[in-house]
Amino acid sequence: MNKIGVLTSGGDAPGMNAAIRAVVRKAIYHQIDIYGIKNGFQGLIDGNIEKMDIGSVGDIIQRGGTILRSARCQEFETDDGQNKGIEQMKKHGIEGLIVIGGDGSFRGAQKLTEKGYPCIGIPGTIDNDIAGTDFTVGFDTALNTVIEAIDKIRDTASSHERTFIIEVMGRDAGDLALWAGLADGAESILIPEKKDELQEVINRLRRGQERGKKHSIIILAEGVGSAFDYAEKIKESADLETRVTVLGHIQRGGSPTASDRVLASRLGAQAVDLLLSGEAGRIAGIQNNRLVHHDISEVLAEKHMIDMEMYQLSKELSI
Ligand code: F6P
Repeated sequence: MNKIGVLTSGGDAPGMNAAIRAVVRKAIYHQIDIYGIKNGFQGLIDGNIEKMDIGSVGDIIQRGGTILRSARCQEFETDDGQNKGIEQMKKHGIEGLIVIGGDGSFRGAQKLTEKGYPCIGIPGTIDNDIAGTDFTVGFDTALNTVIEAIDKIRDTASSHERTFIIEVMGRDAGDLALWAGLADGAESILIPEKKDELQEVINRLRRGQERGKKHSIIILAEGVGSAFDYAEKIKESADLETRVTVLGHIQRGGSPTASDRVLASRLGAQAVDLLLSGEAGRIAGIQNNRLVHHDISEVLAEKHMIDMEMYQLSKELSI
């Protein structure tokens, strides 16, 4: 293999730039030509492709977002869209592709691999919802952004003796909510992996009030539903007033943490090695701090699991 490509796709995540840098530098280290595809799979269809060199990725390891930009591309879910992408790969002589993104992006990578264009995926999403890896690139940074925000909300919650419901991202996964809740000592953590426990949340709020607790923090993962609706439910069931903060896209921005930069660098370099050693349709990941890789179909078929021991611990620590 002499020419490979790299793209970022789906929701951006801090650390994607560090991953791009590692892919580009590792390819050059192996004397392979490396092409950057702009705007994800849409850019592949449109032929928005540029050759990259060492300088293309200078001074980006610390930057949030993705210099290649990202998109969610419905056209690439069709045969026609995939074939247009393959035409562009042929035109530029690109023999394999590294796809940095989440499960939607990996489906595109799987299709290309099936059609004879080998792809390797790097999990890049703040949701930490990919099976076969303990962590995805961007999760640690988003987590730190969330806890910084909660710390600030706690200040005002305590001054005004209020209960706050803070809605965090994560799509269908509760990892961000669980880790943030544990790191911030939240009174209740609501995640989609566990059934609604409204009465338990209310009981815990009441127990806190009875022993003189003046403020409370409830973290709600977006996969559970809207924090505003949850506030209504608490009001209706227990006549308790709450304030709501939806953290939103602030969670996707910012300079990546050291942990995300290192993870992205390791996975980026590993992805190039996998492609050059003839692997196809694999997802690079990290488990127990060791680099691993799994079949893309298995990763997509398997559901990411939340750490239930951590969930139990969070309950035990916020009695
Ligand atoms: O997958 C990352 C993510 O930020 C999710 O947590 C969230 O549900 C979604 O993307 C938001 O997508 P968009 O930026 O397209 O609104």
